[in-house]
Amino acid sequence: MNEQYIPHSGDMPIEEFRRAGHYLVDWIAEHLRTVQDKPASTPVLPDVQPGDIAAMLPTAPPEQQEAIGAIIADLDRVVMRGMTQWNHPNFFAYFANTASMPGILAELVCAALNNNAMLWKSGPSPTEIETVTLDWLRQTLHLPAEFWGIIYDTASVSTMHAMACAREQALQNIQKNAKQSGLAGLPVLRVYASEFVHSSIDKAAITLGIGAENVVKIPVDAAFRLQPEALEAAIRQDRERGFLPCCVVPVIGTTSVASVDPIAAVADICEREGLWMHVDAAYAGPTAMLDECRPLFTGWERADSIVVNPHKWLFIPMDLSVLYTRKPDVLKAAFSLVPEYLKTKEGDTNAAQNQMDYGIQLGRRFRSLKLWFVMRYFGVEGLRTRLREHNALAGLFANLVEEHPAFAITAPPMFSLVCFRYKPENVSDEAVLERLNAELMERVNSTREIFIEHTKISIAGTPTYTLRFAVGNLHTAEKHVRRAFEILCEQIS
Ligand SMILES: Cc1ncc(COP(=O)(O)O)c(C=O)c1O
Repeated sequence: MNEQYIPHSGDMPIEEFRRAGHYLVDWIAEHLRTVQDKPASTPVLPDVQPGDIAAMLPTAPPEQQEAIGAIIADLDRVVMRGMTQWNHPNFFAYFANTASMPGILAELVCAALNNNAMLWKSGPSPTEIETVTLDWLRQTLHLPAEFWGIIYDTASVSTMHAMACAREQALQNIQKNAKQSGLAGLPVLRVYASEFVHSSIDKAAITLGIGAENVVKIPVDAAFRLQPEALEAAIRQDRERGFLPCCVVPVIGTTSVASVDPIAAVADICEREGLWMHVDAAYAGPTAMLDECRPLFTGWERADSIVVNPHKWLFIPMDLSVLYTRKPDVLKAAFSLVPEYLKTKEGDTNAAQNQMDYGIQLGRRFRSLKLWFVMRYFGVEGLRTRLREHNALAGLFANLVEEHPAFAITAPPMFSLVCFRYKPENVSDEAVLERLNAELMERVNSTREIFIEHTKISIAGTPTYTLRFAVGNLHTAEKHVRRAFEILCEQIS
């Protein structure tokens, strides 16, 4: 054995860190300023082909140390060449979002502290700041006090945990324990959601051993809302066939069109049938803060669990998703497993909450710090104002579409999303309309000045290719929305 001590050479010298850090904060500020002041000359979509960025990188790692200046220089030379600019005021694709500046600052601190709040003991402040900020958020969303929250990375993961609770509850009801014995020999579990539900529900079913084919897709009405009578019929039929219904996932703000399922009617069914109701409000959830949107949320307070994504529409940098549940004990029963090396006296005596007991992950970033920074910096009134502005900007875009003879709205505009398409008067063939709209989207996006995306929805039984315009960036203003519509008009002529 080699007894000789081999000296290591440690971290970056502190003064070098300070200089590089100041430079990088300036670099970030300059980047954000340019994007805001000159959106037209800062492409929202990069001009690259698959493989272009990888081709600029060495295929082997550096054997010798590189200067931090050279690494930083490659941000401009390499990285920025291939960046789709999500933090750009002309980003209108998917659900647009914002990494706000207070959130960016919190991320910096989070990385520096490098806390792992798996246990209260390993992160008292992160654990307690998470509990308190999630309770603040709960209050702003007007959810009852019994809702308890936890942060995960994404809505997909939040929903997977919610569906694990649904599975746990349904199996507990028939005195079965999937946690110990797995699912072999048990009745087939069934989950129900509208045909507009996000694919994360199917992925959760895959992950939990429920199986994608056991997510029963319920038809929607003309406004793309789940039909409660069809839901009831599907559950009845499944029980007759020996399936074990466990969960219904209504949505407030579907991904394609931002439609809102009839939550109260679904809650009635879930209560009658003893099923777990998980509300997917990943995108639209924050608008429960707005009096004018509150009626759309009626009944969500009766949910067993709810997912809301502050990284989608509450100005938090990726990533931060919140799962609220009124039954944290079921979540804990589904996931808690404490090996000797993670036993603590706080855990043994229930004097404090150990976040590792409430999910699959052990290690946890200090994500709540950015929610704490953002909620304090903007204040709840400031958050409300900004959400309202986004809804109003989407309303402006919807008006521009409606007033133009060559465009048509394809779904009722909801929240900050407008679904629309190019519809020349003399064209009615759906295949031709799909081609025209797909080509229009390509042309518009290849200007690299704005970025929009598409979906396909069924209108009166006909699959309809639809463009989507989503507002969600804090720097998007009226001029950006008007310019986006101008680009669309230029590209059809
Ligand atoms: C309604 C809805 N639910 C869930 C998700 C998944 O979100 P995440 O990317 O956080 O997993 C999305 C993504 O857009 C969504 O629109």
